[in-house]
Amino acid sequence: MSTLENLSCPIDAAPLRQDGRMLLCEHGHTYDLAKTGYVNLLPVQNKRSKDPGDSKEMVAARQRFLNQGHYAPIVDAILESWPDPHLVDHVRVLDAGCGEGYYLHEIGDALSNQSIQADSIGLDISKWAVLAASKRSKQIGWIVGSNASLPVPDCRFDVVLCLFGFPVFSEFSRALSDDGVLLLVESGADHLIELRQLLYPTIHDYKPTHSDGVLGFELIKEHTQRFTFCLSSQASIQDLLSMTPHIHKASYEGREAVKQLDSIVLTADVKLRWYRKQKGIYHV
Ligand SMILES: C[S@@+](CC[C@H](N)C(=O)[O-])C[C@H]1O[C@@H](n2cnc3c(N)ncnc32)[C@H](O)[C@@H]1O
Ligand SMILES: [Zn+2]
Repeated sequence: MSTLENLSCPIDAAPLRQDGRMLLCEHGHTYDLAKTGYVNLLPVQNKRSKDPGDSKEMVAARQRFLNQGHYAPIVDAILESWPDPHLVDHVRVLDAGCGEGYYLHEIGDALSNQSIQADSIGLDISKWAVLAASKRSKQIGWIVGSNASLPVPDCRFDVVLCLFGFPVFSEFSRALSDDGVLLLVESGADHLIELRQLLYPTIHDYKPTHSDGVLGFELIKEHTQRFTFCLSSQASIQDLLSMTPHIHKASYEGREAVKQLDSIVLTADVKLRWYRKQKGIYHV
């Protein structure tokens, strides 16, 4: 089975079919598969910049950091909290803003060890992220695209994952089947607090996102995953910094203080929230 089945043309939403190393729609729009197997379904007119999303350097830093396994407890927490109805023999998963593919790849492997076949698609607006992801796994379909306009038909997925990403709830609702679920993973109050204390003169109060609920979704499960991990080189500290917004927000003095470190023990504090789609809110 092709990993790029049942997708839609980003220009006119017509179904795409694969012909050799190309996807095409009935109106003659064509999309070549890259050498590594991913497809770019982000039309030029939908791009807000020439090279949107994470840069090549940010993607490489995130990949080096995640490959060290420091965030494996987040993968464990996702799998442990995965809602039962979607632990059947076959599940269709979209990772919306998949980055360089670490989580989707790990999740696919773990599900397959439980004899669950995951038909997985990873999508990101950064071509650098998708290029790296497509080298990580050939069992997953990888797409350059935007959460703002997912190039997929209605009800295409059972599960949508949005990890440290940019959710577009109307699109997630459209892309989910009627009993589909959405997972949001976000930083909690103490996430990387030791690093933030060095970077900023004062730590702002934590404001939980979506505490008033998410239109079109019902919260069904909430879980906090806390753990500590140690970074034991300046290079890996800089890799972590490069994959966070702090690299742009922190003061010069803060970044200089971090440059003096050889090692640091950090707290990870991550919120997982699972939502069930409410039918008929966005689309009747
Ligand atoms: C903080 S990173 C998280 C990546 C990955 N989920 C992870 O946790 O490793 C956010 C990702 O969202 C992507 N992104 C930004 N805007 C997007 C959009 N409109 N649609 C899809 N992806 C987007 C970026 O390119 C980046 O890879
Ligand atoms: Zn078309």
